[in-house]
Amino acid sequence: MMPADLDRSFRVDPADLPGEAIVFGSTPAMREIRSKIDCVLSSDLPVLIQGESGTGKEVIARFLHTRSNRHDAPFVKLNCAAIPASLLESELFGYERGARDGAEGDRLGLIEMADRGTLFLDEIADMSWELQGKLLRFLQDGSFTRLGGSEERRGRIRVICASNIDLRKAVDSGTLREDLFYRIEVVTLHLSALRDRKSDIPQICEYLLRKLSRQFRRRIPQLNPVTLRLLKQWDWPGNLRELENWVARAVILGDDEALSAELKRQVESTGKNDVRRSDCDGPKDLTSSAASTAAANAILQVLQANNWDKRKTAKDLKVSYQALLGALRDPGGGRRRKGNRGFPYLQ
Ligand SMILES: Nc1ncnc2c1ncn2[C@@H]1O[C@H](COP(=O)(O)OP(=O)(O)OP(=O)(O)O)[C@@H](O)[C@H]1O
Ligand SMILES: [Mg+2]
Repeated sequence: MMPADLDRSFRVDPADLPGEAIVFGSTPAMREIRSKIDCVLSSDLPVLIQGESGTGKEVIARFLHTRSNRHDAPFVKLNCAAIPASLLESELFGYERGARDGAEGDRLGLIEMADRGTLFLDEIADMSWELQGKLLRFLQDGSFTRLGGSEERRGRIRVICASNIDLRKAVDSGTLREDLFYRIEVVTLHLSALRDRKSDIPQICEYLLRKLSRQFRRRIPQLNPVTLRLLKQWDWPGNLRELENWVARAVILGDDEALSAELKRQVESTGKNDVRRSDCDGPKDLTSSAASTAAANAILQVLQANNWDKRKTAKDLKVSYQALLGALRDPGGGRRRKGNRGFPYLQ
């Protein structure tokens, strides 16, 4: 039996996911993905989700689970890149007494925890070669043994794999077993980058503004038409995650003027649209733009961990309160204002 707290955390509440119209939007490529999902809902077929970082692979995996006939069973996620290779096997298959140093009792692996539900294997190419072989065996006949055990067990789950690298290339470069690749790529969903579905940005933005305003207990900020146009001009290399972070800043700051100015600089510095190329410093400028985005994301993470308490966040980051406010309003500021010594992330 699964402990009650684990059991609860493995449930997916559809209300926590964006609605279908937001997840798939209106482009033909994403609509095709929606249709493909319909075809696999009642089967046990493995599904592979490919897409750049932040394109919503996990959201799609959860969506698929909630629509499938497994929706009452657990959705269990394992990020193969986040767990040391030595622990991954026991995480996945479980272990029996004495199998590992300090292993006192038997422990269920995630395959057993996901019983009758969905196992989501993120960053699948990061799994060791040997473990890939064991996973292949499980996918072929549904059987496995716990680490240190001898009893053959059966898992009744659907496996969804995801990767932000092209798995065909991972096969070519020898990091992913070819036999495993063919086993998991039966149904492959290639998620569009946000830059290839820009027509969906206004609806996604509206959804995020509502969701985050409710979450942060702020009023919904009004984005002016110039900002909305800029949102469609920026290429969003971090995809939906970057857009979500941008909207979070708009909600926290409550006015979009500074953010709009920042977007304008970003758009211009990458040579899009009405750019004067001579204003662009080339790769160096792009690097610092990416760095400031990363810095802003790092600040947001600390803010979120501190329940949006800006004073505590400034203290944790060892910067002045004013410097934090400045960085939130203008993440690129440190690059241009020589006098800004307050915020090490932005120097
Ligand atoms: N359709 C959507 N509308 C709004 N927000 C979305 C949508 N899809 C995903 N998101 C948000 O974008 C962020 C990234 O989504 P998700 O974690 O599913 O992406 P991912 O492709 O798994 O990223 P990574 O490759 O980095 O693991 C999450 O915070 C998620 O809530
Ligand atoms: Mg992910």
